[in-house]
Amino acid sequence: VTLVLGIETSCDETSASLIEGAGDDVQMRSLVILSQDVHRVFGGVVPEIASRAHLNAVVPVVEQALRDAGVSLGDVDVVAVTQGPGLVGALLVGVCYAKAIAFASGRPLVAVHHMEGHIFAQSLEHNQAVPPFTALLVSGGHTMLLDVEAWGRYRLLGSTRDDAAGEAFDKVARLVGLPYPGGPHLERLAAMGEPGRFRFSRPMLHSRQRPGDPDYFDVSFSGLKTAVLQALRASTAPEDDAPHIARGFQDALIDTLVEKVRRAVQLYGRQRVVLGGGVACNRALLQAMRDGVAEFGAEVYAPSPRLASDNAAMIARAGLFRAEVEQFAGLDANAYATLPLPGLIAQ
Ligand code: KG4
Ligand code: ZN
Repeated sequence: VTLVLGIETSCDETSASLIEGAGDDVQMRSLVILSQDVHRVFGGVVPEIASRAHLNAVVPVVEQALRDAGVSLGDVDVVAVTQGPGLVGALLVGVCYAKAIAFASGRPLVAVHHMEGHIFAQSLEHNQAVPPFTALLVSGGHTMLLDVEAWGRYRLLGSTRDDAAGEAFDKVARLVGLPYPGGPHLERLAAMGEPGRFRFSRPMLHSRQRPGDPDYFDVSFSGLKTAVLQALRASTAPEDDAPHIARGFQDALIDTLVEKVRRAVQLYGRQRVVLGGGVACNRALLQAMRDGVAEFGAEVYAPSPRLASDNAAMIARAGLFRAEVEQFAGLDANAYATLPLPGLIAQ
């Protein structure tokens, strides 16, 4: 078995984790996540503040993860770190620290793609969440629909043309006066809303779309956000209407995601759907997804909130896979704000 230390600093969570295993038989030994609360004051992540906070936190967070797992640095076989995509200054803190640890301990370094981490996250909790499956990754920065044929073999079917799903939640939450990050608040507000009181058109969804059309799998949420803004402006009682508008927004966004996943499940004949990213914490999305793919006999897997949101366990898990296929990084490894997903294959 291999003991992997994972480090994640791509956005506003400083996280470290120890996982241990081989192949798909993997156990999480520890996971420490330090969320940077400071960004709430600014209504969004401030990159320079994030970098500085990572710098203060990364050493104690890694030390705590080692302590929680009852191991020392000398026991670690592989050091895995998020290389991108993300905030480059934030990423650099993790990358530099991981390189230093790898160099000092003489252990190999693996540079992990953050979204590949999200693909692996649910497999840490569910031994059924293994390929082949349809993956929907919905976070504050990314929205990706993938067909995962095998670990490391990914068809990127669709992504967002503008706002990410979580970003849409955050922006709409702000419109109705809810704090950042708005997703969980908006979910609670929408739960009090009446379905159908406000009906927004489903973005990028037409029955005429066919496989191969560029918009068959892509999503777009900025028009939906504008429709919400217009509904609020047109309302004579925006406070009273807010829950119903939130409900209309959430229903439109969820309907769109569910239909795109249904298309992917059907086209590739998959029996499993794996969700990832912060928006996967949304209970209404999970329920609608389960209902939506039930007719194909497909099972839906969504990580618990700790593993759905950014965390280092998923980075360690993806790092273990990359180590097993012997894809190591050199000490010249860099951080990248944008980075293509490794292992992409043609649709
Ligand atoms: O994956 P994540 O923790 O960080 C990024 O990589 O972005 O995702 C954070 C996003 C935020 O936009 C947040 O509002 C959203 O996930 N989110 C939710 C819920 N919980 C978190 N969106 C909708 N419903 C939720 N329950
Ligand atoms: Zn993420």
